[in-house]
Amino acid sequence: MLSPLQKALWAAALGAAGLYLTVTAVSDDWWRGPAATGSADAQPSAIRAEFTLTDHRGQRRTDEEFDGRWLLVFFGFTNCPDVCPLGLATIADVMDRLGKEAEEVQPLFVSIDPDRDTPEAMAEYVEAFHAKIVGLTGSTEDVAEAAANFRAYYEKVDDQAAPDGYSMSHTSSIYLIGPDGTFIKPYSYKASPEENAADLEQRVAT
Ligand code: NI
Repeated sequence: MLSPLQKALWAAALGAAGLYLTVTAVSDDWWRGPAATGSADAQPSAIRAEFTLTDHRGQRRTDEEFDGRWLLVFFGFTNCPDVCPLGLATIADVMDRLGKEAEEVQPLFVSIDPDRDTPEAMAEYVEAFHAKIVGLTGSTEDVAEAAANFRAYYEKVDDQAAPDGYSMSHTSSIYLIGPDGTFIKPYSYKASPEENAADLEQRVAT
């Protein structure tokens, strides 16, 4: 049975899937936000998959715990109207499509809105999508450090129509991190789960 929250989130994901079909694919500077433009280290090779954050059960977690596993890392926030529901629905779909390789893949959803995204809020949110997704949040500083390591962009945007009068603009790609912690490639949050799962399955099985 789907809960009302799950129904609402998956409906948002489906709506966004329709809306974003016309948007162009991931560009070469996908990771770069306006703030990073022109920055000398805004290169994929500069991405470091390092963090110390609090998971959706309230436990402190670091990247080192996930050594040896493939990571799908997605930055966002639980009040996101479209990109995040679609990105997490894509990740959930990819996980369900993977065979035994799913055991070697860990999806992480990192909040860039820690003021609102408490561990409790993250738990309700990630569990609506997939049992394997770990939600990560923390202090403003924790989140800023993690995002800087991943070269992820985020920015608070005034929006009177949004809850609390603001929304968050953020990097929308899903980072694929290899078992040794190196960044491999971005997956588009709106790409077909079939393609992403096939690509990932091949890498994991090799
Ligand atoms: Ni979002």
